Amino acid sequence: MISLPPDPGLGEGLAALLKCGHSRVAYKTFPDGELYLRLPNRVSEPVLLVSTTYPDQNRSLMELFLTLEYLSQKGVRGLYAVIPYVAYGRQDKEFLEGEVVSGRAVLRILKNLGLRKLFVVDMHSDKLVNEFKDLVVNVLPAKTLASYVERAVRTPRIIVAPDVGASRRAEVIANLLKCEYVVVSKFRDRITGEVSHRVPEGLSLEGFNAVVVDDIISTGGTVANIVKHLIGNGVGEVHVIASHGLFVGDSLSKLSSSGVRKIAVLNTVSYRVSSDLVEYLDVVGELLEPLKNVLEEV
Ligand code: R5P
Repeated sequence: MISLPPDPGLGEGLAALLKCGHSRVAYKTFPDGELYLRLPNRVSEPVLLVSTTYPDQNRSLMELFLTLEYLSQKGVRGLYAVIPYVAYGRQDKEFLEGEVVSGRAVLRILKNLGLRKLFVVDMHSDKLVNEFKDLVVNVLPAKTLASYVERAVRTPRIIVAPDVGASRRAEVIANLLKCEYVVVSKFRDRITGEVSHRVPEGLSLEGFNAVVVDDIISTGGTVANIVKHLIGNGVGEVHVIASHGLFVGDSLSKLSSSGVRKIAVLNTVSYRVSSDLVEYLDVVGELLEPLKNVLEEV
């Protein structure tokens, strides 16, 4: 196992559980901004790379590309990677004519550089997962998120998907918790990025404690908006569970003024906020079985 510089701390735990060697890449940045990497000079197959792609998406992707190129050139065929958060994954189609489908570009480059399997946590786009089904193993961390809800949110609970894209996630978690889920309609202005929500007509959420489940918290706009909307519709406490907490810009103050009780996210990126509002959950346990299933066949 080789950890690249942005490994969010998963490499050590995974290497211990998988009982394999663990090394790191030596790296520096040249004065003009170009990257320099030096890998362990002797590697045995299979190689499992551990990295993530936030913050500094472009740099961490370039580091991955350079590493894969090096290992492929050295004749390593068993190339695997755990990248719990894959940047650019939200651009999975041409929403507006002429837009580059950057999520597809990233996956295609990884594949062309010889990567056999990519273990991702809660990839945003089912479309890309299906398009690259021979490459991507998408791990939904449902047990970890559900166990947070079990200990932190009082009954009666309702799981809320803040858009249609989050409905499968909400359904799986609601099934684990044996409670209902609801899909709230989301409208996003493709130019300004502004978000609005609407609870299905005739549905009463009064008396429930709501758990909003999403994949990514970026600017916090989606979550802040739905939390306010739910509180306006009479719910009790609102908790948020999400896989990837990017917490861009002033997102934290936006979220704390929304009225949200607590936000639980996973350790899938190498940026952490220090706030009583946010709790970090460990995703290592969710990755172990999928990794064993694939690596034991190698
Ligand atoms: C969108 O479809 C995603 O699932 C998230 O809801 C979105 O990326 C969150 O972004 P933000 O925090 O900027 O609203």
